[in-house]
Amino acid sequence: MGFPDNRMRRLRSNETIRRMVRETAISVNDFIYPLFVIHGQDKQNPIKSMPGVFQFSVDDKLKKEIKEIESLGIPGVILFGIPEVKDSCGSSGYQDDGVVQQAIRLIKDTSPEIMVITDVCMCEYTDHGHCGLVDKDGTINNDATLELLAKEALSHVRAGCDMVAPSDMMDGRIAYIRRCLDENTYENIPIMSYAAKYASGFYGPFRDAADSTPQFGDRRTHQMDPANIREALREVALDIEEGADIVMVKPALAYLDVIKAVKDRFDLPVSAYNVSGEYSMVKAAAENGWLDGERVMMEILMSIKRAGADMILTYAAKEAARMLNDI
Ligand code: PBG
Repeated sequence: MGFPDNRMRRLRSNETIRRMVRETAISVNDFIYPLFVIHGQDKQNPIKSMPGVFQFSVDDKLKKEIKEIESLGIPGVILFGIPEVKDSCGSSGYQDDGVVQQAIRLIKDTSPEIMVITDVCMCEYTDHGHCGLVDKDGTINNDATLELLAKEALSHVRAGCDMVAPSDMMDGRIAYIRRCLDENTYENIPIMSYAAKYASGFYGPFRDAADSTPQFGDRRTHQMDPANIREALREVALDIEEGADIVMVKPALAYLDVIKAVKDRFDLPVSAYNVSGEYSMVKAAAENGWLDGERVMMEILMSIKRAGADMILTYAAKEAARMLNDI
């Protein structure tokens, strides 16, 4: 039956009816807020390419931020550390007094209910900016890197984090990290795997924020080719087999089809990373008066949810929470 018996506009005629037929809901429970932590005291450094996002020193500055996150009802954060010293094997990534390890303790002390997730990767800690150990010929040595990733994950868990999120895209790292955590009695710590992580231009602003731009070459030998979706499903299947508890698609906006395909195919919770470039694009356009930043940001978050994400890592979490809480 078509027009005039059917009129689609009937169910759009006012906000109440629109509210009643709305298919997708977004809530503050969906958000994970990324936090950049640095050494030093009393620091809150703005990140130029990401308006509203800062690097925090692990003291009252971070404490205040965490309290705000908690008061907004955001359930979790993901931590990225910027170390003072970088070397070829990223050793400050797995030290007990490393910046992330210190931040975990402070956050758990301040707000024990906040879910503290840590990004596990070498690229913030290596002097060459790569995600693993680099051989003489410039290739990233997959198998030798696994040991370091497991050490890093274990040190985060020992410091008290609630979940680890390996973002390096080395083969076999989920199983390796799972085994290491289990051997150390941490069998109940979940792993959120960056399962389908693409080699994307959208990470540009993050690399400013985390000071992790590769000094040579790129990440195309381990991160995925943006052209591929069937390969993403293989990546996800492998990570699940290896013991992942939550699987991530990253970036989100240009990969909504991948989120949808992963959600349709697998039964695990799916997370999506609304990455730095996706955030900065909206901010830049809004600052120019070219679009309504808040409205577009909510529309993007809604699209990620509609595609099937159960949780969204987003720099817009605080703003979105304020809008959803109407404050
Ligand atoms: C790697 C990592 C990156 C991001 C999260 N974890 C950078 C990269 O792979 O180059 C990007 C996040 C973003 O752009 O917001 N540690």
